[in-house]
Amino acid sequence: MKKRIGLIGGGQIGGNLALIAVQKQLGDVVLFDIPQVEGAIKGKALDINQLAAVDGYDARVTGTTDWKDVAGSDVVIITAGVPRKPGMSREDLLEVNLKIMRDVAANVKTHCPNAFVINIANPLDAMVYALYRITGFKKNQVVGMAGVLDTSRFKFFVADALKCSIRDVEALVLGGHGDDMVPLVRSATVGGIPLTALVDKEKLDAIIKRTREGGAELVALYKTGSAYFAPAASAMAIAESYLLDRKRILPCAAYLEGEYGIRGYFMGVPVQIGAGGVEKVIELALSPEEKAEMEKSSQSVKRTVDSVKI
Ligand code: APR
Repeated sequence: MKKRIGLIGGGQIGGNLALIAVQKQLGDVVLFDIPQVEGAIKGKALDINQLAAVDGYDARVTGTTDWKDVAGSDVVIITAGVPRKPGMSREDLLEVNLKIMRDVAANVKTHCPNAFVINIANPLDAMVYALYRITGFKKNQVVGMAGVLDTSRFKFFVADALKCSIRDVEALVLGGHGDDMVPLVRSATVGGIPLTALVDKEKLDAIIKRTREGGAELVALYKTGSAYFAPAASAMAIAESYLLDRKRILPCAAYLEGEYGIRGYFMGVPVQIGAGGVEKVIELALSPEEKAEMEKSSQSVKRTVDSVKI
């Protein structure tokens, strides 16, 4: 039986998620949005279905404003919410997106009680916390997508700076999805060679800065919204690992119960994603500097989450 992928929010990221899911033939897609945009959501689904013949994709997309159509989804990906505009921080979205998340999470709980749920809406670490608390789902059933994107940005900037293949870049970005995320420079390699042996400090600092401000750079360029191609691809990598039980190790915002010295919050850490959802949180031995950066990042996450009060 084909898998069902429920996409809550059919805007820029939602549309790209649907396209990638179809192209990867991961299952049938249900693209859900609010009644005010029913025409657009049905149009987007029809448009994607009309490309199926070009490459012979058997997956189908349904555009809907009815939660009943989302029922029974194996995986649910949430982008419902408002994106940033120039000058805004992710935290500026908290109030409006939390209101939306309250509605969405309650419906996910009712209609998709067994789904693996990936949140993309910002501020990421607070929204995924709200999702977890409102649904009451198990901790292995809920993740936030940020680390895959932040890591992908980091790898791209490294490959671009070194003019080398991105395939040879291995790196990891941990922490909250904010300006104090933690790119792990010490363990980053290019073709097995430590990154620090290949770039000088000045270049490295510029790469780190651009990674941390990667989202804002795009907000400033787009002017009307935020990044959508790379976020969609990043979330679909998590969904794929779950649906195909790939057991990939990916940096995701996961609920921590003491790992990395953090308890009761979601933070970006390496996790293993398979048929059991978040099957394992992998704890790394961090250097004192990395520990201090993780601590700083977790304080920012805690400040935002503590203002949520759910
Ligand atoms: N239920 C379902 N969909 C909703 C709801 C709701 N209650 N409220 C809003 N939406 C829909 C909007 O109608 C819109 O189609 O969510 C969609 C969001 O799409 P965009 O505005 O294009 O935003 P997008 O770029 O996809 O980003 C969505 O992800 O990265 C984060 O910061 C970003 O929080 C933002 C989210």
